[in-house]
Amino acid sequence: MSAAGSGGAAPSGAPLRVGVLASGGGTNLQALIDARDAGALGPARLVVVGSNVAGCGALDRARAAGLDTFVVEHRGHATREAFDRALVAELRARQVDLVVLAGFMRIVTAELLGAFPDRIVNIHPSLLPAFPGVHSQKQAFDYGVKMTGCTVHFVELGVDSGPIIAQAVVPVLEDDDAERLRLRILAEEHKLLPAVVRALAEGRVSREGRRVRVAKD
Ligand code: GRF
Repeated sequence: MSAAGSGGAAPSGAPLRVGVLASGGGTNLQALIDARDAGALGPARLVVVGSNVAGCGALDRARAAGLDTFVVEHRGHATREAFDRALVAELRARQVDLVVLAGFMRIVTAELLGAFPDRIVNIHPSLLPAFPGVHSQKQAFDYGVKMTGCTVHFVELGVDSGPIIAQAVVPVLEDDDAERLRLRILAEEHKLLPAVVRALAEGRVSREGRRVRVAKD
């Protein structure tokens, strides 16, 4: 997006076609499916789930929910760009409007970003810009912060660095360990991600530079 504009991709109530990319267990995908089933995704439609890991839990969850799926194995591609071009082809074939990275463990390139400008969001298990990258929950725990949480942000080139759409705070408790903390953050992720997808679908997200505003529903 340039200086200003809407981050929502659904003009005047049209359904927003959502493609989810995931590499792992897929509990965030499940939260989106559960929100859909509860009628809590607004005009967002989950249309496809793609993965780079054949046999991952996210694909099982997608199939169980009756969603279309695809696999693009990153090892089959010589470069990150070639891998991303294959993803773009799969997503475009389903006319996806919004790409949600939900535990997708690949660094995206300009190929994917250029195909879905301002239409890719990611969920990250820390209060960015603190603790980007992997094992963020343990990084935060080991650092000794008193508050951590999760972030949904637009994806740009650079790891976990795009404009922040929404965050949820999770306190670190005196008797925590890294795993308990991870699970409490995950529970917040499961609320935050569907809420952001709904807000995008309802056209309630606008952006000026790095500052993103989510209007109340
Ligand atoms: C989540 O913690 C998410 O924030 C991070 O990867 C994890 C994916 O978990 N990007 P799941 O596959 O959704 O259960």
